[in-house]
Amino acid sequence: MSSTLSPPRRTSIISSVRDEVWAVQCLSVVVVGASGDLAKKKTYPSLLSLYAGGLLPPSLVVYGYARSSMTDADLRERIRPHLEGKADDIVIDSFLDRCHYQSGAGYGDHAGWGELNAKLDGFEASAEEEVGNRLFYFAVPPNVFAETGEAISATSMSKTGFSRMIVEKPFGRDTDSCRAILASLGKHFDESDLFRIDHYLGKEMVQNLMVMRFGNIWMENMWNRNCVQCITLTFKEPFGTEGRGGYFDQYGIIRDIIQNHLLQVMCLLTMECPNKLDGPEAGEKIRDEKVRVLESMRPVALDDVFLGQYEGYTDDPTITNKDSNCPTFAAVSCTIDNPRWSGVPIIFKAGKALNERKAEMRVQFRDAPAASVLFGGADVPRNELVIKLQPSESIYLKSNIKTPGFGSLPIQSELEVKYDTRYFDASGTSGSSAMCNPDAYSRLILDVLRGRSASFVRSDELIRAWEIFTPVLDQIERENVRPVKYRAGTRGPDGMDEWINGKSGYVRNDDYRARRFESNYQLKKLNPVFLLRNSGQLKPPNFLAPSIPAFNLILLSLPGREAVHPHTAEDRTVPHEGRAEERHGHVPGLLEPGRVDLALEGAAGALDLLDLVDLPSTPRGPCGELFEARRLPTASRPRIKN
Ligand code: BG6
Repeated sequence: MSSTLSPPRRTSIISSVRDEVWAVQCLSVVVVGASGDLAKKKTYPSLLSLYAGGLLPPSLVVYGYARSSMTDADLRERIRPHLEGKADDIVIDSFLDRCHYQSGAGYGDHAGWGELNAKLDGFEASAEEEVGNRLFYFAVPPNVFAETGEAISATSMSKTGFSRMIVEKPFGRDTDSCRAILASLGKHFDESDLFRIDHYLGKEMVQNLMVMRFGNIWMENMWNRNCVQCITLTFKEPFGTEGRGGYFDQYGIIRDIIQNHLLQVMCLLTMECPNKLDGPEAGEKIRDEKVRVLESMRPVALDDVFLGQYEGYTDDPTITNKDSNCPTFAAVSCTIDNPRWSGVPIIFKAGKALNERKAEMRVQFRDAPAASVLFGGADVPRNELVIKLQPSESIYLKSNIKTPGFGSLPIQSELEVKYDTRYFDASGTSGSSAMCNPDAYSRLILDVLRGRSASFVRSDELIRAWEIFTPVLDQIERENVRPVKYRAGTRGPDGMDEWINGKSGYVRNDDYRARRFESNYQLKKLNPVFLLRNSGQLKPPNFLAPSIPAFNLILLSLPGREAVHPHTAEDRTVPHEGRAEERHGHVPGLLEPGRVDLALEGAAGALDLLDLVDLPSTPRGPCGELFEARRLPTASRPRIKN
């Protein structure tokens, strides 16, 4: 039913959307499972964000459906805390006024759905618009998809407009259970009305891949086996199962993250160019190309998998099998057997309870030909393109430049775009250009309303994705393959780096330190932070200032100088009794005035050093350069987990 006008070039999304037919028709959204976690944490906040952004039709109603008995007021009270701070109070109130609730005896209860349908009919009849569209968001587990779908199709479809269903993983545990889920919904709805969310496809940097890859001539020419050494897709989370153990223990990290989120991202990173990238027709074209990539991959073998489990995983009371071999960490190596990628190792790496939150794509290129000969045997590190999904979206190309100053040898630096400073401010909006960084769910719900399917997973993609992983997942369970234990809060199991490097041929440049490290560590206390650029002659105790009760010093060597560690950084923390104590960790190597994030690895649980600091301009000291860091206001600081 959706017909859309082509958006005019370079107009804002709001004006494009307002030109589309559905935007001037009336809309009922039904959140199925309205009392659950997904609805509260993701669905309602995303709907609010679209509403606040003027991206939903003026004639709008949002019904929650679930089994609990609740009034409209109860529902509003339940979801309000999850909306607070996400829009002005007045907007939240007006959004909540449109939210109502309908209970049913079960998700397949025709009587309950019938009542809801009568209310939706009434709303549509009272609206000025002739067409009423309906969007059903399944925020329920897959075991009730079938009955929910059956009841909706029997009782609640729109008579005048579209009826679209949004469903979310897990889509089964293996190929067969996935087929069963697909069939149960396929009986009632056309594929074109089913939108299977993989929220990674709604992230800014994943959506950006189309433009980056196919809008830049330099990129496409390097994007193949001739230039690329290996590709790594990484997902890291600094917390464990946290009460979700019951679910997680049935799935494990390969099913939870790799088989869907990382595999989807990989498809976009490696597929051939579809002949349409934007507009409603792009959906099928893009997904055709993604399926082709999946069809060029062989099922993963056990030898291509490295598994880990964090110590204490089974202490989670929601995990009943105390001898569980469920992996909370996995590295998987595979290849794409097509002319572009043949022989290029693709590594997926995902883990829970690791040292940081991070998701990124990393493409390492081959050695520059003859470079070390040309530069008299000097190290000429490989180029790497890093696309960071989160936290803080950025893209950087690790490239060699001449060592600045009198030196002439190559030094690895980066050509970089940081979205926080280039496009978005901390609140997610940029004052000058009205650019905002909506969350993945808001983007995807808007796509459903616009009838754009490119960022949703088609049934053939899903089946193929399961076919690649099902054999090895079965084998891990059948043979009770034991994962390697690792300490929570670390980088992962011992031996992982060697395993990955052996499979991928990846070469790490130990001299290189990214300038910015994200600070998401568990720290209990923030002290004032002083930053010192050390020109090489100073030792930490020189800077002890007895008048300052508690402080930290960080020593940084100047980039390009032959200091203690050339163009890397060394840090020390100095507790108040004045003893210098070395911390194992990183601080930015190339320190520039401006905002710098500091994070120390291995500091989890300790009190020491972490702060976000703003550096003022650079006063020179006699022996080194001393900066007094200004502590940022609390709101701008990293989230501290206790
Ligand atoms: C979900 C997984 O799909 O993605 C969770 O089930 C995981 O285990 C989450 O925590 C991560 O999403 P994000 O957007 O926070 O990276």
